[in-house]
Amino acid sequence: MTHCAGAAERFPQALIDALGRARKLAVLTGAGISAESGVPTFRDAQTGLWARYDPQDLATPEAFRRDPKLVWEWYAWRRTLVAAARPNPGHFALAQMQVSFPGFALITQNVDGLHARAGSRDVVELHGNIARIVCSAGCGVVEAFDPDAAPPRCPKCAAWLRPDVVWFGEPLPAAALESARRAAADCEIFFSIGTSALVYPAADLPRVAREAGALLVEINPDQTPLSALADFALRGPAGVVLPALLEATERAGKA
Ligand code: OAD
Repeated sequence: MTHCAGAAERFPQALIDALGRARKLAVLTGAGISAESGVPTFRDAQTGLWARYDPQDLATPEAFRRDPKLVWEWYAWRRTLVAAARPNPGHFALAQMQVSFPGFALITQNVDGLHARAGSRDVVELHGNIARIVCSAGCGVVEAFDPDAAPPRCPKCAAWLRPDVVWFGEPLPAAALESARRAAADCEIFFSIGTSALVYPAADLPRVAREAGALLVEINPDQTPLSALADFALRGPAGVVLPALLEATERAGKA
């Protein structure tokens, strides 16, 4: 069921009732939830990062080996964008939902840390975090490094430092992926918010939830490959739809 949702719109009563009964929610977010904070998404035609850069030139281990300076500087630019960004009402609504529902798992593909900055706890970061810097040879997280070097070198082994994010062709952090799969398999309602639902294994989580009997809710201004599978496809920006949905649920005395 597709529903054009916004602050003024009413939500399907069946969704409000389901939220009133639910005790366990799982939420998967993508770049779209940070769009209203001014952080570029990846695939939005005009403004997306991939509209202007070829991901194969920047977000792969081969690209880093080929041109570590270019890759380091691209992520340094994204770090400044993220540092200047502020969580938006969509992020804050999810932090509030974590308080309102006894079981609430927040899984994100984003590396911008905005969920935690909005007050969400125990965020499952499937693709890492751009603010965390690690040694590319496996020495772990590095807190202090030369701010002028591009890229700086590991103080322990002198290998290049890199952002602690998952690049194309790299495995996701095993513990995060296991935690995400467990949450998807154990929830009553699964939200897919602000993601094009194209990148696996994250894009498999809604199917895991659906196969476990969960209701599927998508929040996205645009259609995605997941829209046809969703029980409720709420067409609108997350920063408007989520606060309105939370208010409608609380108004019904349900959350
Ligand atoms: P995309 O850029 O692929 O998709 C962003 C989605 O957000 C699109 O479906 C937009 O329609 C939607 N969107 C835009 N503005 C929105 C808003 N205000 N509210 C809600 N939705 C909005 O980003 P992701 O799906 O997150 O992976 O991309 C998944 C992964 O692909 C990323 O984590 C990254 C990329 O390669 C890695 O870097 C490993």
